[in-house]
Amino acid sequence: ILKNLRYCNLYGTFYICSRWGILFSHPADYTPVCTTELGMAAKQAPEFKKRGVKMIALSCDSVTDHNGCLEDIKDSSGEAGDWPYPIIADKNRELAIKFGMLDPEEKDKAGLPLTARCVFIVGPDKKLKLSILYPATTGRNFDEILRVIDSLQLTATKKVATPVNWTHGGKCMVLPSIKKEDESKYFPKGVETVSVPSGKGYLRYTPQPE
Ligand code: BEZ
Repeated sequence: ILKNLRYCNLYGTFYICSRWGILFSHPADYTPVCTTELGMAAKQAPEFKKRGVKMIALSCDSVTDHNGCLEDIKDSSGEAGDWPYPIIADKNRELAIKFGMLDPEEKDKAGLPLTARCVFIVGPDKKLKLSILYPATTGRNFDEILRVIDSLQLTATKKVATPVNWTHGGKCMVLPSIKKEDESKYFPKGVETVSVPSGKGYLRYTPQPE
């Protein structure tokens, strides 16, 4: 399954090269929520690709179980053909321990802890940009994961933050560090300052920068 993992240049940068990446773990193969999640991740793979995000999944199962479970996932999700992302078989829990993915509440038949539903988004600089942790009993929403990637990619280069329930194309907030006199330089589309009782003028909206 790790056949997609290969050196992409002579300097030893693996898999994501200089792109964004998502590493997401699930508790175990042949479990219901995981099966729905991995199918949805495949369905949404073109959206991750559009954003230049390389995907990789992980659980503590074997390659044999990953391959067997993949047949169930394909059948139940309707996603066929080449699987769009690799699934790491972290049988010895090497990565799970290193990245703090293990959930002490969830154990396999041998009493060993399983991985929680971790989401790690990594930037092109290989630094962690966001992590979200879900318990085994709560499946993830891949629309939300794409939404946060949109915010991370936008705010990585523009001097804005994204407000509550923001989605791509929505109004953004001017960063508190931007001085009033610099607003027109950074935000040619304009800035709307909402007055607040404190009179501090920090609630500043601007259309999403290009
Ligand atoms: C599931 O994927 O359905 C699941 C896995 C472990 C614990 C609970 C649910």
